[in-house]
Amino acid sequence: MWVKYLEINQFRNYEKECIKPAKGINVFVGENAQGKTNFIESLNLCCVGRSHRTKRDEELIRWGESFARVHVKAEQEDGEHDVAIVLKKADKNKKIIKIWDKQVSKIGELMGHVFGVMFCPEDMQMIKGGPSERRRYIDMLLSQIYPSYFYALQSYVKTLNQRNNLLRQIDMNRSLLPTLEMWDDMLIEKGAVIYSYRKKAIEEINAIASEEQLRISGGHDLLSIQYLSDVEKDEDPEKKYRAKLLKNREDDIRRGFTSAGIHRDDMHIRINQKDAKVYASQGQQRSIVLCLKLAQMEVYRKIKGENPILILDDVMSELDVNRRNELVNRIDQIQTFITCTDMSDLGNARTDQVYQVSEGKIISTAS
Ligand SMILES: Nc1ncnc2c1ncn2[C@@H]1O[C@H](COP(=O)(O)OP(=O)(O)O)[C@@H](O)[C@H]1O
Ligand SMILES: [Mg+2]
Repeated sequence: MWVKYLEINQFRNYEKECIKPAKGINVFVGENAQGKTNFIESLNLCCVGRSHRTKRDEELIRWGESFARVHVKAEQEDGEHDVAIVLKKADKNKKIIKIWDKQVSKIGELMGHVFGVMFCPEDMQMIKGGPSERRRYIDMLLSQIYPSYFYALQSYVKTLNQRNNLLRQIDMNRSLLPTLEMWDDMLIEKGAVIYSYRKKAIEEINAIASEEQLRISGGHDLLSIQYLSDVEKDEDPEKKYRAKLLKNREDDIRRGFTSAGIHRDDMHIRINQKDAKVYASQGQQRSIVLCLKLAQMEVYRKIKGENPILILDDVMSELDVNRRNELVNRIDQIQTFITCTDMSDLGNARTDQVYQVSEGKIISTAS
């Protein structure tokens, strides 16, 4: 798929900008703090329905304005897809999503119209950071392919919050204990759905990413990515999850939160059988993240039958020549959006369209 039109209004430091990107490699070059990341943030918003930088949608609205709007037209094998997102300041939690100008009621309906892989410097946290960084990777990957995954996740989080509230109430009023059963059932049901999606996807990611890593490292680095879950290693994840919830019940009531479940899942990343979090060098960490992104692209290609868009925010300068070339060789057939402060960061990458970004203005220049 590719994006052929992108318009933003009152988004971050932009008043109104509209571009028709090239089908190939689009570069956004400019000094720091000019709006490069802001611009691609708007594109990512149309892919996953949220910013990669903040949970607070109101931050995306231009200061002093009452709304922000992003409008994207993308071309897929099955034709044109038209997506618009409006964020309103007055209505803090209200995000209006329109597909072909028709408002949809669920964020999940946004998924799949524009789908992409984003790679930014913060992704390095996937190796050294906590489990939530790795869960975000798998959640974003799966949500863009399967709306049913996204809905299960949304509903799990809601149920989890309700269960946690109830745990705190039970601590003060034991007669409420029997009502816990219902929330356990719901948690187990949604948790099992999420578990099976994640298990299958991580196995696939492991197969692709380890092959990439082996090639990039010239046969040196054996990468392995393993799913770690509270409900794992059992024929029947529902049974396993129920047993855990029961076992932890009294502790959970005392602490006021649910200590077991897919909200604690992780991926164990190892390089040459050693924990990457502890032992991977800077270069190996970068390679692993690159391989995870390449694997995500491959999964989309397999399942959706076409290429995702690729968004590279400030990562070219972070990669050494070898890794940069690996990436550049892969983006031949993929519509790519690259931000950089200097064209020399791109190495020998082909450019089809170059945009100069300055103080919230985007000017198209010759490539
Ligand atoms: N809601 C907003 N309204 C207006 N300006 C904003 C808003 N949010 C961020 N900015 C400004 O955007 C600029 C940062 O843009 P960014 O895209 O991150 O820069 P870069 O070009 O380095 O990627 C900063 O100057 C910041 O003050
Ligand atoms: Mg930036």
